[in-house]
Amino acid sequence: MNDFFQKDIISIRDLGKENLESIFSATEKIIDLESNQRREIARGKTLGYLFFEPSTRTRLSFQSAMALIGGTSLGIADVSSSSVQKGESLSDTVKVMSSYTDVLVLRHTLDGSSRFAAEISQKPIINGGSGTEEHPTQAIQDLFTIKREKKNIDGLKIGIVGDLKYGRTVYSLLYGLGNYNVEVHLISPEALRIRSDSAYDIKKQLSYTESTNLDDYIDDLDVLYVTRIQKERFPDEEEYTKVKGSYVIGPDMLKKMKDDAIILHPLPRIDEISPDIDDAKQAKYFEQAEYGKYTRAALLGLILNENGF
Ligand code: NCD
Repeated sequence: MNDFFQKDIISIRDLGKENLESIFSATEKIIDLESNQRREIARGKTLGYLFFEPSTRTRLSFQSAMALIGGTSLGIADVSSSSVQKGESLSDTVKVMSSYTDVLVLRHTLDGSSRFAAEISQKPIINGGSGTEEHPTQAIQDLFTIKREKKNIDGLKIGIVGDLKYGRTVYSLLYGLGNYNVEVHLISPEALRIRSDSAYDIKKQLSYTESTNLDDYIDDLDVLYVTRIQKERFPDEEEYTKVKGSYVIGPDMLKKMKDDAIILHPLPRIDEISPDIDDAKQAKYFEQAEYGKYTRAALLGLILNENGF
């Protein structure tokens, strides 16, 4: 039996290096398979999605992943059009949706939401983003992109810049990187430094530096992971205004980077990466978004098939 069969994917911390590597090999396999072979992987299976927050890539990449492997999807992209609006609880919604589907992706504003849903659901739950806490499938996709583009994750110098306080992709990525031998530099405005409760756990696996100045590291990085300032999570709009536009990666910044460095971003971007550099060879964020379809197809294939595919 494969390790993922009928398993929930709540936190990347539940996955060890071997688990991650097996998802990466399954992803390579999905990429290489003929389309008629891919379509056998989830034939007759249904993915459910339940999104309490806006999403473009996470929901659509899950749907396109499911279509790629021959399954179907149904769900709620906007809870204001569902019975949640009438006051139905998360628990009842999950219970009912899990009876219509084989696996469920949940995105919710609250930390702990996916773990809670997993206790209720009869079917595996995949965390598609829980509050400011985690976004494990984004980190799987980020790590896969790094591995595919740089061949190896071990030995790399990785800079993570932007909103390290509220950006859930950052936490999942850091936990995931804890399985590898990497040098990590965190760059953010003082007010958006990594949260101290999580920093305590991350430090058990990974050492990193913290700085407000990207120039200290930019010319030495192999990977620059840029994040959006998470405006919607700020308790006070004025605080957001103070840090808005803190870092912008444009042609001048690009010139300082190594020739073979890569620039990633979970997207959506607002103004932190200038479209002027989209065609640069270092800009890999759109490839990263595309890899998300394959990593999610691989994960779904492993969750749905006892003996893998
Ligand atoms: C991220 C998220 O929702 O956390 N988006 C995504 O899933 N790619 C990042 C963000 O919203 O900034």
